Formats: sequence, C-alpha cells, structure tokens
Amino acid sequence: MKLWGGRFTKPTNELVELYTASIPFDQKLAAQDIRGSLAHVKMLGACGIIPQADAETIAAGLVQVQAKLEQGELHFSVAHEDVHMNVEKHLIDLIGPVGGKLHTGRSRNDQIALDMHLYLKEEVEEIVGLLYRLVEVLTDKAEEYLDVIIPGYTHLQRAQPVLLAHHLLAYVGMFRRDIERFEDSYKRIDIMPLGSGALAGTTFPINRDRVAEELGFARVYENSMDAVSDRDFILEFLSNASILMMHLSRFCEELVLWSSTEFSFVELDDAYCTGSSIMPQKKNPDVAELIRGKTGRVYGDLIGLLTVLKGLPLAYNKDLQEDKEGMFDTVDTLKPGLMLFTGMIETLQVRRANVERAVKADFSNATDLADYLVRKGLPFRNAHEVIGKLVLQCIESGVYLADLTLEQYQAASELFEADLFEALDIRNVVNARNSKGGTGTESVNVQLANVREWLQAQKQ
Ligand code: ARG
Repeated sequence: MKLWGGRFTKPTNELVELYTASIPFDQKLAAQDIRGSLAHVKMLGACGIIPQADAETIAAGLVQVQAKLEQGELHFSVAHEDVHMNVEKHLIDLIGPVGGKLHTGRSRNDQIALDMHLYLKEEVEEIVGLLYRLVEVLTDKAEEYLDVIIPGYTHLQRAQPVLLAHHLLAYVGMFRRDIERFEDSYKRIDIMPLGSGALAGTTFPINRDRVAEELGFARVYENSMDAVSDRDFILEFLSNASILMMHLSRFCEELVLWSSTEFSFVELDDAYCTGSSIMPQKKNPDVAELIRGKTGRVYGDLIGLLTVLKGLPLAYNKDLQEDKEGMFDTVDTLKPGLMLFTGMIETLQVRRANVERAVKADFSNATDLADYLVRKGLPFRNAHEVIGKLVLQCIESGVYLADLTLEQYQAASELFEADLFEALDIRNVVNARNSKGGTGTESVNVQLANVREWLQAQKQ
C-alpha cells in the first residue's frame, strides 16, 4: 500500500514506479531528511498541533531510524518512491500508526527543498575549507621558490620573464575569488523552506522560525511558492563550481605542459602520476588531465539544471526532481579533485636548472632593451624597431641578445653603452617591474604578505 494510495484503484505500472522514483539517488539525503523531520515534529508538539506525547514517540522513532541509517541497516525501496516516504515508512513500521502524524502541516515539496538546503550548507562549508587549504599550499609553494624565474607567456609564446611565485599567486587570486563566491552564496542557501506546505502554506498554527532556529538557519523563505520552487541556490552552487573547475583546469593544463619533456619545468610527484601498460618509460600526469576532463561534466550539471528550470510554471513540478543528481555529481567531482590538486601542488618539485636554462635561452628581455633606449631619449617606436632588427640578427646567427658585443650594439644605435648588459640580465628584468601588482620581488613580497594576512584573518 502506497502512502498516497487512497485515491487510487490500481497498482502503479512497474516501469512508472521505476521511472518516477528518486530513491536510487535521493537516499543520499536520508540524514538531512531525518534531521528535518525531528525539528518539524518537535515544533508540532511544542505548538500543540499534535499531542506532546505523540511528538516524543515520533522523535524517539526518528532517532532509531537515524541509528539504523548509520549502521547501514536502513533499506530503501523503490515502492516507496523517495527518501521522504521511505523514512516515513520505516518510522511507521517501528512505532506504529502514530508515525503517520509526522507529515502534519508539511509536504514533500517543502521537505525536499529543506533537505537540499541542509545538504548544500554542509558541502559548501567543506568546499570552502578545502579551498583555504589550497590557497595556503600555493602560498607556501610560492615562498619556497621565491627566487625562481620562469618565462612568462602570452599566446603561449615567451613574452617576459616572471617570478614563478607571481605565476602561482595569479591562481591564488582566482581561488580567493572562488572562496568569496561560495561564501557569498551561503547566504542564499541558509534560508529555511519548511512550513510552505505543497505550495500555499498550511492551515496549522506552525512556527517556522522555531524550526529554522533548531536547524541552524539564518532566516526562512518569505513566500511559500518561492520556497518550494526555488532552485537558484543550487544553480549558484553549480555555477560557482564550474568557475572553480575552470580555474583548476587551466592550472592542470599548465602542469601537463610544464611536466612534459618539452618544457621540463616541474616534476610531478610519482604518487600523483600513473604509468603506461605498454610504454615502460611513461609517467603520465593523469590526475591533472582528469581534473581538466571532469570540468566538462560540472559544466554539464549546470547547463542541465538551467535547462530543467527554464519554462517551469510555479510551483513544484516533478521536473524539479532532476535537480539532485547533477548537484551530487558536482559535489563528488569537486571535492576529490580539490584534494588531489592540493596534494599535487604540495608535492610539486620545480626543476630549477631547466627553468633557468629556459629563461636564458630566449628573447624575453627584448622589451627591457627597448626601454633602455627610451631612457636614453629614443622614442619607444624607434627603440622597438632597433631592437627588432637586433633580434632578427641574433636569430640569423643563432645567438641571444646577451651574446652580441658592445660594438654590434653600437652599430645599431650610438645610444648603447656598456650598461646595456645590466638591462639584459634576467633578474634585473624581473625586478625592474615593481609596479603595483607587477612581478618584481618587492611587489611579489607585498602580494605574499597580503595573502598571509588574509589567511590569518580567516583563522580568527
Ligand atoms: N522526490 C521528489 C523530488 O525529488 C520529492 C518531492 C515530491 N513531490 C511531489 N509532489 N511528488 O522532487
């Protein structure tokens, strides 16, 4: 017998039962569902909507159901459709018909909304914690290699040298914004929908604020129709997760490149790589590749839900049941990805000698040589032309700017003097850029101090 079987004369078609059931996936919300029911029933008793003694029997029954769940003894059945009716069925089996009073003044529509709010509140807190840890690890790494200069790229062509720390701190900036986004979204997850009934509220004298307080919510939804049909908080989560995955994916792409023989800038720890079944020499950056690859499914989860919601009339529609699997998938993709990524950064070794060689063997100091001529009075456009020709001359004879003689320089412009070689020195090139936000050591130290201060403030 179904919990809603009263108005039906026939059993449900078996395929319909399978097709409409959400229990295969929403059982993940069983703990939240029981917590919500406990708060609800306590309120029903306190407000005199059901006898206090019944409320206590039901609460005790729910605690038993909770214990069964924790011991892995709670069995879920498709016949009971979803997590709410499965929990209620177990309750009634345990304590008898009085369990049927639990659903007074409540609907599965506000109930599922409540469960998801409870779930995401916990998950977002955990994800924010993981992000703080990542920022910390990145900042440590930046400090560890503060003296290392790498080629900076535009168009993936060597552009100007930068401190590796500067490059890493660029990602710190992204992850800090991710933290801000998740933290800000928390305000909109932290709203309690229960007490909205199916859509219009309830005839019973419930106390929603009491339930909200009991469950640790900052406020309650002000409109019952909004409460049961709002999925913005999930969309926002998926959107924040998509942006975060995109950041991780960009970094992963760089790790894949940097760990290749062609770059050889870094060595990924063996614990974060795998081998090939046929090629004995291979060490593949699978974790980085998979994080990059899994970004696609998180985007898919976002687009999926956006599409489900588009065109839905108020209030609850069964379509909304499609909100859960993508949300779970994103949580289950994001968390291990973040943990692995953090471990990968923590154990990353920079191949100093290779990076140094790379930085020397290019023309990324050409801008500085042009700036040198500008300081001697030449208009920048002419300086650009002079240096461009010198670069060409170098390429033709297979050398770099530092290899030309003073005589060769003076043949190109009489403004050149012996101090030009200082301008070419890579460390000087980097440290000449101490403009606010620039890559010079002084500027990077300011950035590091700011992140440290920010991290410290979070801990208080
Ligand atoms: N399983 C449903 C969901 O996930 C719960 C709400 C069901 N409400 C209803 N009127 N059928 O959305």
